[in-house]
Amino acid sequence: MQEVLLIKADLERTDEWVAAFADFDVEVRDWNSPGNAEQIDYALVWQPEAGALARFPNLKLIFSIGAGLDHLMGDNIVPPNVSVIRMVERVLTAGMTEYVLYNVLRFHRFMPQYEADQRNQVWNERFQIPAWERRVGILGLGVLGGAAAAALAALGFAVAGWSRSEKTLPGVVSYYGKPQLAQFLARTEILVCLLPLTEHTENILNADHLSQLPKGAFVINAGRGGHCNEDELLAALERGQIAGAALDVFREEPLRQSSRLWTHPHVYITPHIASMTAPAASAQHVIDNITRLRAAQPLTHVADFARGY
Ligand code: NAP
Ligand code: GLV
Repeated sequence: MQEVLLIKADLERTDEWVAAFADFDVEVRDWNSPGNAEQIDYALVWQPEAGALARFPNLKLIFSIGAGLDHLMGDNIVPPNVSVIRMVERVLTAGMTEYVLYNVLRFHRFMPQYEADQRNQVWNERFQIPAWERRVGILGLGVLGGAAAAALAALGFAVAGWSRSEKTLPGVVSYYGKPQLAQFLARTEILVCLLPLTEHTENILNADHLSQLPKGAFVINAGRGGHCNEDELLAALERGQIAGAALDVFREEPLRQSSRLWTHPHVYITPHIASMTAPAASAQHVIDNITRLRAAQPLTHVADFARGY
């Protein structure tokens, strides 16, 4: 009997997902019409409700539609003994690299100031700082942080990254572990957050850490809203400790209307679009892993729930 893949995607994209598996030997079913629960072999999901996946007793693998796994970390979401594969695909990675480059260049080349000058019809030239004198620091040097770091290094920026374990990436200085965070922050003029949200990384963009950056530093958060203490960031912006912030993710999404972030003159908001999983490209990642499972080969990008990502 053909194996069954159940998909819980953004409703508007379900058709695209179904088409992406058209040539693969699997029957695709929509989350809202799963049929016989015992027949479901794989689930490809975004934000399933607690308890929902437990309805499928023969699940072999769960695929996260997002790179982040925080949507699967709550109690009773992932059934015991079922592995989760995180999303790694080139459209998602390329999109994040574009978002990071765009915002680093925005701050590096004084674009907010030039846009304000234009509104005031002011002709004001600023001296350019060479990229190699601009110190960019990336929190999280995984799939997305590593790709963004490589692209920034290729443009000549002075790039460093902070991760749990030491890295050797060409043109990127590696800081790792809690003891090296202070050193990393002290040298970072443009800070990019691309960490997963875990108990160890929650609130990392807080008053204490923001104050360890050089005065007038910039912050780019494309990790998760839970990484940022929004009130403390606003206070740091008010003091001029932080000169600008590009924020793609928020504690509450959509960002509530009453948030002062919306109207702050030095905050640049996007609605969690830094990068998006593309059905066609990601289907290949799913197909590769199902094929590996069928051939009893090691799987790729298996989530480690004990470490939280
Ligand atoms: P990843 O490959 O798992 O990389 C995570 C990185 O964070 C690794 O370098 C890891 O260190 C580091 N890290 C984790 N916990 C740490 C800790 N306690 N201290 C120091 N470093 C720590 O993840 P990814 O694919 O790059 O994705 C990163 C995050 O981006 C996702 O979890 C998601 O939240 C976010 N995201 C956002 C969007 C968006 O549109 N805004 C889109 C996709 C993803 P090691 O390398 O040493 O393990
Ligand atoms: C999006 O936020 C993702 O985790 O892929």
